[in-house]
Amino acid sequence: MAGPSAVAGRDEVPEGGFIRIRVAGIDCILARVEGRLYAVEDNCSHEDYPLSYGYLDGARIKCSLHGSRFCLRTGQPLEAPAETPIRTFHVEVINDQILIDPTRAGE
Ligand code: FES
Repeated sequence: MAGPSAVAGRDEVPEGGFIRIRVAGIDCILARVEGRLYAVEDNCSHEDYPLSYGYLDGARIKCSLHGSRFCLRTGQPLEAPAETPIRTFHVEVINDQILIDPTRAGE
């Protein structure tokens, strides 16, 4: 599988917000919280529902269907009903481009 892919410009992700991107066939959320970038899969582990329909709550994303919250750093569910973590991906910024490596976990 390929390594890191450029997915956005450095300034394309608003502070306290996220954009949707697709990398290596995976729908992802790319978020910025307190200056730090996070990439997680855009899919709630509870019922395969897009997390991008929800909203950020600090460094967590809340699913709008049943209310589970997931840590953007670890992917762990912090609130029921979801019990399974979501995938996180390694993010780096090189030459004003944001790169995501779908083969490496975040943190
Ligand atoms: S689909 Fe996300 S909490 Fe149920």
